[in-house]
Amino acid sequence: MQEVRGVVSVAKGKPVEIAAIRVPDPGPGEALVRVQACGVCHTDLHYREGAINDDFPFLLGHEAAGTVEAVGPGVTGLEPGDYVVLAWRAPCGVCRSCRRGRPWYCFDSLNAVQPMTLLDGTPLSPALGIGAFADKTLVAAGQAVKVDPAARPEAAGLIGCGVMAGFGAAANTGDVSRGDTVAVIGCGGVGNAAIAASSLAGARKVIAVDVDPRKLEWARGFGATDVVDASSTDAVEAIKSLTDGNGADVVIEAVGRPETWKQAFFARDLAGIVVQVGVPSPDMTVELPLIELFGRGGALKSSWYGDCLPSRDFPMLIDLYLRGKLDLDGFVSETISIDQVEEAFEKMERGEVLRSVVVF
Ligand SMILES: NC(=O)c1ccc[n+]([C@@H]2O[C@H](COP(=O)([O-])OP(=O)(O)OC[C@H]3O[C@@H](n4cnc5c(N)ncnc54)[C@H](O)[C@@H]3O)[C@@H](O)[C@H]2O)c1
Ligand SMILES: [Zn+2]
Ligand SMILES: [Zn+2]
Repeated sequence: MQEVRGVVSVAKGKPVEIAAIRVPDPGPGEALVRVQACGVCHTDLHYREGAINDDFPFLLGHEAAGTVEAVGPGVTGLEPGDYVVLAWRAPCGVCRSCRRGRPWYCFDSLNAVQPMTLLDGTPLSPALGIGAFADKTLVAAGQAVKVDPAARPEAAGLIGCGVMAGFGAAANTGDVSRGDTVAVIGCGGVGNAAIAASSLAGARKVIAVDVDPRKLEWARGFGATDVVDASSTDAVEAIKSLTDGNGADVVIEAVGRPETWKQAFFARDLAGIVVQVGVPSPDMTVELPLIELFGRGGALKSSWYGDCLPSRDFPMLIDLYLRGKLDLDGFVSETISIDQVEEAFEKMERGEVLRSVVVF
């Protein structure tokens, strides 16, 4: 048992607090990881706003890199000292999706079995089964994915969520390939990773759409060929006019709102693909003429975690980073300490950062 500091969300809408937490020694199939860096993702804020579920208190943080400190009985292929990025998907191998050969949809992904707790014994709900705004965290061994230790933790950790989700939304879910036209609506950490992936895949045009000019400027740095400020321009018309009046082959929605999803729907070419990677809240709805769904053809997809297989994709993204092909450093807007997460949420909401990263 270890006693460490963690960032805890105690109640809906309340500012997060630093609390002393208890982390059990790893049991069978578990790994204890010393966290070195963890990014602040919009999903952490969704948790603390009560938009994910009501299982307070949450231990926030889920975009992390660190080193394995101990592994429990029966763990193979992972040992103390290994440098890892934490994943919120660790395919179980036995659910109906894994058995059908589609482990990236695993319906029963593995997490640590033993709970981390507050000092009074109250169990914590770790965000996305990770909980890495803490000096140490307990995960299922399969959630700790070994990567090249040459990648600095502030950058490497980001592939654990937002960057992987955005990259995979384009590369896996949208299957963006050479010659495609792509539009990305919402250019935060997730959207910009989709832009980077589309650019790497050989898209001929990558259109970045946001309501914040700072985000559009960053998007150019990640490979956007054109930018659209949707606060002053009609996004659908702008995307169409940039694609010979047709719409884009793939439109990626990385905001998580009905109006931007609708823009994605209407801004794609006939038989094009919409990829929804932004996470809506439970109260949101869309209404559309059914004939539009039929008549436009193509595919409407959602992308959970970029349809990634962490053990396959994390080492690959890290190698692309180390070769200078994927600018992970460009996502690190600032490094902060563990007691600045609440300020980081405010900066995120004001659009001042792509990622604030807590370093330990
Ligand atoms: N599907 C997944 O597996 C997965 C994983 C991680 C994050 N997410 C989700 O992806 C979304 C984006 O995450 P992020 O961390 O990049 O958040 P972020 O807050 O950094 O980025 C959101 C961006 O959307 C822009 N935006 C807001 N309203 C807009 C509008 N009307 N039109 C165009 N742009 C608009 C903002 O200016 C901002 O740049 C969130 O909903 C997050 O929960 C999904
Ligand atoms: Zn499974
Ligand atoms: Zn996230």
